Amino acid sequence: MGFATECIHAGQEPDPATGAIITPIFQTSTYVQEGLGRHKGYEYARTQNPTRRALEKNLAALEGGSDAYCYASGMAATNAVLTLVKAGQRVVVSDNVYGGTHRLFTKVLAHYGVEFAFLEASDAGAFDAAAGRFDLLWIETPTNPLMKVCDIAALSAVARKRNALLVVDNTFMSPALQRPLALGADIVVHSTTKFLNGHSDSVGGVAVVKDPAHAQWLQFYQNAAGAILSPFDSWLVLRGTKTLALRMRQHEENGKRVAEYLRGQAKIRKVYWPGFTDHPGYVVQRRQASGFGSMISFDLGSREAAARLLETVRLCSLGESLGGIETLISHPATMTHAGYTQAERDALGISDGLVRISVGCEDAEDILADLQRALDAV
Ligand SMILES: Cc1ncc(COP(=O)(O)O)c(C=O)c1O
Repeated sequence: MGFATECIHAGQEPDPATGAIITPIFQTSTYVQEGLGRHKGYEYARTQNPTRRALEKNLAALEGGSDAYCYASGMAATNAVLTLVKAGQRVVVSDNVYGGTHRLFTKVLAHYGVEFAFLEASDAGAFDAAAGRFDLLWIETPTNPLMKVCDIAALSAVARKRNALLVVDNTFMSPALQRPLALGADIVVHSTTKFLNGHSDSVGGVAVVKDPAHAQWLQFYQNAAGAILSPFDSWLVLRGTKTLALRMRQHEENGKRVAEYLRGQAKIRKVYWPGFTDHPGYVVQRRQASGFGSMISFDLGSREAAARLLETVRLCSLGESLGGIETLISHPATMTHAGYTQAERDALGISDGLVRISVGCEDAEDILADLQRALDAV
C-alpha cells in the first residue's frame, strides 16, 4: 500500500462489535475476565488498550518498523528508549538537539552512571574520528534549531562498527518525508505532539523499533513505568495521522515559499533551511528524505529585533511547539533551548536573535503578509 493509504488505514479495522469505521476510544481502566487466566487479551489498561494499540500499529507501519510503543509525551518516549542503556555505557548525541532532550540526558540520566557527549554529527567521517567508544548514538536531523543535516545511513555504519544503536528523533520530518529505519537506524522516536498529531491538541510520544528484543523491552517498560499515552490522546493522534500525507504536502509547499521569502529580506542575517541548494546538508537531505520540511530558523541579529518581530506577528502564533496545522513561531534561546547555558548556546550558534518558525497549512500569502508586517516593525 502507498504511504497515504497506510496513514488512513494501517492498524485500524472496523470495530468488530458495531462496524464503526473509526477505532473507538476505549476509555476503561480494566477489562472483565471470564475466569482465572481467561480473558480476551486485555487485563488492565496501563498494560493494554485497544485505542493505543491501533495507533502503535499505525505508527509502526508508517515508519516501516516491526512495532511501536506510545508514551505520555515525546520526552517519556525518549526516556523509555534510554532505558536500553546501562550504567557505565556512553551515549553520543548530535550537538544541537531539542533542549528538553539535552536536559533529560545531562540533568537526569547522567545521575545514573551513563556518560553523555554532544558532538557535531553533520560530517559522518569527522564524527567517526572524534566520537570514540559509544553504545548509543542519538541524532536529530535536521537538527533543532540550526537545521544541520546528519547522514543517517553513514552514521548507522559508524554506529554498527561499534556495535552501538542508532536512534533518530524524526519529529521534524515525520515519516511522510523521512524514514530512518530504512536507512539503517535501529529506533525512531517522535514527539507525536508535533506533525503526527498535527492539530496542537495532544501531547504524546512514540518509539518505533525493528528488533523484537527492543519491542519486548519497550513494552515491558511501558507497563513497568506506566507513562502511557491515554486512550483519548491515542485517538487524537490516530485521527491526525489520517491526514499526515496531505498535511505534509502543504507544509512542504508553504515551507519553501516562506524560506525563499525570508532569504530575500535585508533585515535577516541568515536563514537556516536544508532546502537551499547552498545549504551544506542539501545533497544528503535530498538523498535521504523526500522533502525539506517546514521548519526554518532565521537570525535577526539581536534579541530586541527578534522580540519586536515575535510581538508583532498575529497569524503566526508565538508559542512553544511545532508541527501544528497553525503556523507557530518561537525564540529558541528563551523557549525550546532555555535548558542550555548561555555559553552552550553561544558555542552552538543559537544566538539571541534566532527565531524558529514552524510553517503551517494556512494560505502562504497570509503567512507572508504577516511576516512582512512584523519585519516592517523591526
Ligand atoms: C525534536 C523534538 N523531540 C522531542 C520533543 C519532546 O516532545 P514532547 O514535548 O512531546 O515531550 C520535542 C518537543 O518540542 C521536539 O521538538
